[in-house]
Amino acid sequence: MLPPIPVLADYGISPTNGFLPEVLPLARLPDPYYNKWEAVAANLQALILSKRLRGVVDRLPMLSTIGLEHDAEWRRAYSLLSFMAHGYIWSGDSPSDRLPPAIAVPLLKISQHLEVPPVATYAAVCLWNFKPLFMDEDIDNLENLASLNTFTGSIDESWFYLVSVAMEARGAPTIALMLTAIAAARENDAATVTRCLGSFAERVDDLTTLLQRMHESCDPTIFYNRIRPFLAGSKNMADAGLPHGVIYEDGTGTETYRQYSGGSNAQSSLIQFFDVVLGIEHRPTGEKRGRTDGSEREGHAPAPRHNFIMEMRRYMPGPHARFLGDVQAVANIRDFVESNRTNRPLCIAYDACLSMLRSLRDKHIAIVTRYIVVPSREVRARSRSRSPEVARRKVNLATASRQPQGIAYDARGSALAKQESDKRNNLKGTGGTALISFLKQARDETGEPAVEDWTRRFMSRQIRTEGQGDFFAGKEEGAGLVKEEVEVAGLAGTWTIDDDVGGICNY
Ligand code: HEM
Repeated sequence: MLPPIPVLADYGISPTNGFLPEVLPLARLPDPYYNKWEAVAANLQALILSKRLRGVVDRLPMLSTIGLEHDAEWRRAYSLLSFMAHGYIWSGDSPSDRLPPAIAVPLLKISQHLEVPPVATYAAVCLWNFKPLFMDEDIDNLENLASLNTFTGSIDESWFYLVSVAMEARGAPTIALMLTAIAAARENDAATVTRCLGSFAERVDDLTTLLQRMHESCDPTIFYNRIRPFLAGSKNMADAGLPHGVIYEDGTGTETYRQYSGGSNAQSSLIQFFDVVLGIEHRPTGEKRGRTDGSEREGHAPAPRHNFIMEMRRYMPGPHARFLGDVQAVANIRDFVESNRTNRPLCIAYDACLSMLRSLRDKHIAIVTRYIVVPSREVRARSRSRSPEVARRKVNLATASRQPQGIAYDARGSALAKQESDKRNNLKGTGGTALISFLKQARDETGEPAVEDWTRRFMSRQIRTEGQGDFFAGKEEGAGLVKEEVEVAGLAGTWTIDDDVGGICNY
């Protein structure tokens, strides 16, 4: 017996809005009991700027969740409290490793209810944090969207969230579409599968167009220095000033440190849905290809292997993560295409889907280079020319990569420096994994299932231009420095910056 094809309503997924809620996010909690939360959120930027947020939050009463009724209210409360929590932790000159009970206790309860971690996840800042400007216009149109909460009040921050919202909305119809394709493949109806795949490929191409609009209104320097630090989690954050994580105070005095990843678009269920439904597999970073033992047929979902992408499922709303698991158990498109290799329209349509998704990942790599890799280098270069006092004045995620780790050590100090660096590296989760290598691997894995010879060749070609490295890079070795490995916090992960990072066009 084949497992049943998942029904969207069972997972709170909307046929029109996808992983965005069917009932639009509330701009305010209706019960006046929560006015104090709303007041803090409404003044968040001013309170952060004046460094008065912590004082105000410390004086907040501890509110109960009893006044929250509908799902939309729970989601609004979660979004409000996670903005307050991250603002509280990251707004001072150095981070706070304690969250007071007024935030911690309700946030823990609400997160449990919604099956999300008690941090600013992608759901808190994107999925449940937008409003349409005009109710009669679509939400897949960036010109019709506004963010409800932000840390900075900047258009850059709103735009950063809204590009994702528009992508989620534009991609939403693909969910039902691909479930139809799965049902059609069960019926051996190749024409329907081909039609679904064709529409799917076009939608993914639309998403790439939307993704590239990030550059229009989100400035990389503002993103790197002002926005990203507030999205930081509490895991692997020793260099940003949180060596142990954060205590969520509940008044008992028995709390222990908790560690969570920060908010990242890697927590989008939509992109993972694409992978699952097309039969794309992501291996742990660095692991080479070598599958196809035939055990992964419909109804025999492969045991999820540990890797960063799988880890991100724990940061999705529980029902969405369960949906991905259940779709994985019925995903049959790849097998169907492989067993119909003589059906060229079908094969071409399938390869087009892979190609479009691969291209989306390609453009994303260019974005990560421009928004994270390049600014992190600029910050490092600046910090080298500054006095240590100036460089260390503020401690957060933006300043963290100013303190290179596992770093350039000279022959005399090498033993000690290496020991220190090993100790630090052991503390890292994703730390030690090169950011761009990870993203490139995910991109290349996207093309692997291609069936047509030409597409396979096209997608596996390596574009590599010699001489991309820093011309003066070798100089440091000459000066007695052995190795330079720099870590940078991505969004949810901590990564090393690859040696082979080139410009933004050479991937
Ligand atoms: C300024 C814009 C963006 C930056 C700087 C950025 C940065 C990153 C970083 C650093 C990672 C590695 C994981 C981590 O540390 O969190 C990542 C992964 C990822 N991002 Fe983005 N991202 C951006 C926009 C987006 C958008 C709009 C989407 C689409 C919804 C997206 C989808 C993903 C996905 C799916 C992954 C997981 C890797 C993969 O599946 O290829 N990102 N991103």
